[in-house]
Amino acid sequence: MKPGDVIGHHHVTMNRIVQISDTHLSPGKSHFAANWQPLAKFVRAQRPDLVVHTGDVTVDGADVEADLAHCASLFAELGVPVHAVPGNHDVGEPAHAHQPVDAQRIARWRRHLGPDWWAVDVDGWRLIGLDSMLFGSGLADEREQLAWLDATMLAAGDRDLAWFMHKPLFLESPDEGDTGYWTIKPAARETLLARIRERRVGMVATGHLHKMHETLLDGCRYVWGPSSGFIVGERLQEDMPGDKKLGAVVHEFAPGSVTTRMVELQDLSRYWIDDVVHEVYPPRTARA
Ligand SMILES: [Fe+2]
Ligand SMILES: [Fe+2]
Repeated sequence: MKPGDVIGHHHVTMNRIVQISDTHLSPGKSHFAANWQPLAKFVRAQRPDLVVHTGDVTVDGADVEADLAHCASLFAELGVPVHAVPGNHDVGEPAHAHQPVDAQRIARWRRHLGPDWWAVDVDGWRLIGLDSMLFGSGLADEREQLAWLDATMLAAGDRDLAWFMHKPLFLESPDEGDTGYWTIKPAARETLLARIRERRVGMVATGHLHKMHETLLDGCRYVWGPSSGFIVGERLQEDMPGDKKLGAVVHEFAPGSVTTRMVELQDLSRYWIDDVVHEVYPPRTARA
């Protein structure tokens, strides 16, 4: 399977999807590892047709290949097909001083976790996974993904459309300025919002914020899937909408509708990144 293939499962009617996000797993840095098994247990109990991971699968897949390999083996053990989109910690991000998203990092992701953008058809809907780390990168892949997105949405016919990606488009309003680390940059945001309006995209489900939140705007449901790994304290994350809860999201798709259920998982340990950030993501110093 290569990026852009539409994955057809037309022999069965798929409709239940569990969205998981921001697991931040690594064999070398096991700070949040204890939360994987309780999450996996929940996922299996839901008997979903598909799991969608909205990114930051790894602690540091952008630099540590073993993190990607480790997570691929955890996905394989789950017993449910997983489609993932990369987060900033998996493939880097545009203009990052130390981990710019680039062809090599994306190739590593694909080798272990499959395409970074993809489409899957479920009952009445086309689910589209996007690599939001490409937006604003200037990479050839950015242009290729956008052309693919347009063609794939057009070819969806009368199916409804749902997008899954790591970074949200905005925190409070589509008109807001640059929020820095937390959202897609305004120029790329405009490009995407125009497509959401034009193609009447029904849902955009994201991760990255480690918060649980849902809002409906102009007919599109914006879903912030929570992390199952850790939450972020106010020193590292300014005040914004959403609840600091750990869990997952269950989406039930049917022609013309989707039911979204946010699930806080009490079995998960409420780790705070603030307590361990210097071990997990140590500050970098510029090399001479
Ligand atoms: Fe994250
Ligand atoms: Fe992230």
